[in-house]
Amino acid sequence: MSPAEATAEIARLRAEIAAQDERYYRHARPEITDFDYDRLKRALADLELAHPSAASAAGAASPTRRVGDDRSEGFARVKHRFGMTTLDNTYDEGELRDFHARLVKALGTEDLAYTVEPKIDGVAVSLTYENGHFTRAVTRGDGEEGDDITANVRTIRALPALLSAPPPGDLFAAPAALPQLIEIRGEIFLRDEEFRRINALQEEAGEAPYANPRNLAAGTVKLLDPALVATRKLEIVLYGLGACEPAPDARAEPDSDSPAASAGFDSQSGFQTRLRVWGLPVVEKFWAVRGIDAVLASIRELDALRRGFAYPTDGAVVKLDAFARQRVVGYRGEGQAARKLSPRWACAYKFAPDRAETRILAITLQVGRTGAVTPVAELEPILLAGTTVKRATLHNADEIARKDVRVGDTVLVEKAGEIIPAVIEVVLAKRPAESTAYVFPADCPSCGTPLSREEGGVKWMCLNPLCPEKVRRRIEHFTSKACVDIDGLGEEIVDLLLAKKIIRGVPDLFRLTREQLLPLKKSGELWAANLVNAIAARRTADLWRVIHGLGIPQVGAAAAKDLARRFRSLEALAEASLNEIIQIDGFGEKTAESVLTWFNQPVNRVLVAELTAAGLAPTPPATGPAGGFFAGKTLVLTGTLPSLSREEAQALIEAAGGKVSSSVSKKTHYVVAGEEAGSKLEKARALGVAVLDEAGLRALLAAG
Ligand code: IVH
Repeated sequence: MSPAEATAEIARLRAEIAAQDERYYRHARPEITDFDYDRLKRALADLELAHPSAASAAGAASPTRRVGDDRSEGFARVKHRFGMTTLDNTYDEGELRDFHARLVKALGTEDLAYTVEPKIDGVAVSLTYENGHFTRAVTRGDGEEGDDITANVRTIRALPALLSAPPPGDLFAAPAALPQLIEIRGEIFLRDEEFRRINALQEEAGEAPYANPRNLAAGTVKLLDPALVATRKLEIVLYGLGACEPAPDARAEPDSDSPAASAGFDSQSGFQTRLRVWGLPVVEKFWAVRGIDAVLASIRELDALRRGFAYPTDGAVVKLDAFARQRVVGYRGEGQAARKLSPRWACAYKFAPDRAETRILAITLQVGRTGAVTPVAELEPILLAGTTVKRATLHNADEIARKDVRVGDTVLVEKAGEIIPAVIEVVLAKRPAESTAYVFPADCPSCGTPLSREEGGVKWMCLNPLCPEKVRRRIEHFTSKACVDIDGLGEEIVDLLLAKKIIRGVPDLFRLTREQLLPLKKSGELWAANLVNAIAARRTADLWRVIHGLGIPQVGAAAAKDLARRFRSLEALAEASLNEIIQIDGFGEKTAESVLTWFNQPVNRVLVAELTAAGLAPTPPATGPAGGFFAGKTLVLTGTLPSLSREEAQALIEAAGGKVSSSVSKKTHYVVAGEEAGSKLEKARALGVAVLDEAGLRALLAAG
């Protein structure tokens, strides 16, 4: 490679990685698998090493020299007392041996003690405890400064607000003092089960599902509403030490109980034990071993156990055990003008994702309610990561062409924590001789209308508004729990009504009669009466549910609520101008244009008119002070706040549109707790209601 070519390639890789970082860290929506991302980063690092002058000629700071940046709007920024770096990682045992060899050389001994821990695939967080009290949670951010997500982290039930000091006489009781201040690092994660539950709701709401639990956890810690966070069961596991005052190794006299007494741990394994004694959630298992062979054996054991762990585990983290030795080898980048990069005393070994070979029996097309057509590979069933896989997404026509995927091909299928398996590549050596390139159908598989390419995008769309498959999906969407929520009207009934031509669209639902339904079920009198009543009861559904149910591209539940609040009727919304829509907080041009385009289409105007004629009369939202941060929210005050009287706090909340109630229930959005908060606080914790202190309340008021 010539220096000019190297410069160009380095620049290209840097731009590509920066774009993926942006999607991963800020939007929690990566486009490529971790494995492919790691490959990009490795290719860049290798090139930079081989062509140092090209590396500096390529301009722009290299992503190999910094951590991704997760900071986002709406959060206070907090500086870490001790920088949060990331780790070097490898998929190769040989490189792990090289890591050991470097340490042997630097430390002058073969006899090195390591810990081997699960590498949790979650969202990195730094917690601060002051004199045992949990005071703050901050994201990694750019490594130096992160977002304050304390209110969100307080919703994690297993996280103690107070560290337990061991009783005197306990094995770990000396020294008994808790550090004055300690930063403890760990990962926030979601269990698979919870991931599936939330994703199902997400899809019902017409929002894109998250690819894997990690992305969903990352999206959740960055929600601006702790009450919403509390509805998702975040969990945490802690493993690392940031700042500690007094320093952990300034060992106290054995019988000292002075406040300056140290936290009393001088190794990673000792720290792990200490975390457990303090009552913090820790890894299920870690290994303390000597030498690299024992490290590799522990990693194999971990690989066999990890699928049974609560948290997603994508590898092992190997650390020099002794803190004194960690200090000797230090960090890459340390000492130079640059900042600390990654520790030389630790290395992450990642397990290659679960992949398997299987054959493509057919390629089918799925038509969504917006008309987007997704190609799906129908597979010879295989067992992958513990589940039988029969279908995998092929993403879009361009991806099929790029990989040259054909029916009859043997392909590699991957499932790396993602819920939807994907076809990674074709095993060309196994391609049958008679195979022909796949031709993406020109027409909609449901209605035969020629497909159109989405403007500026990669999707093929069926634009026929009367396409049966689109109609079916639209009705299912409108009646789903997330939208108008019609009791007893599931997919099966909708399919039946469509098949019998009793309905052709949503408006027909509101005209259904008992007589039409009776012939559908044997002795179905009660059923028919109940269904007709259930539909009638939803004629006055909340306006936002109806707007959401219309299936306007880009408009999920949150945007529908904003539109309902601003326009208060379907008629007013249908007449809204672009300017009026864009002025809604949080609405960009893209969403506003999508709304406008939707209402400008004659079929949609007819739909709205028909809905009204069929008796749909949605209920507009109750009015409160417009735009108040607590509009529609119920808060409960308990205990004594440091500077606000109860009346003052109530006035502030009401001025921001909120309601103050005296008892805590599942419907309470926030409990504001001060000194000596009693049973109400306990109840809030038990119900998973978000708890604020005065500072938290003021922060939300200021944010609103
Ligand atoms: S130690 C100085 N231990 O993986 C950095 N990190 O890919 C020390 N991670 O940045 C990090 N499990 O966010 C450590 N047992 C574990 C971990 C772990 C997951 C995360 C962490 C780190 C990233 C590196």
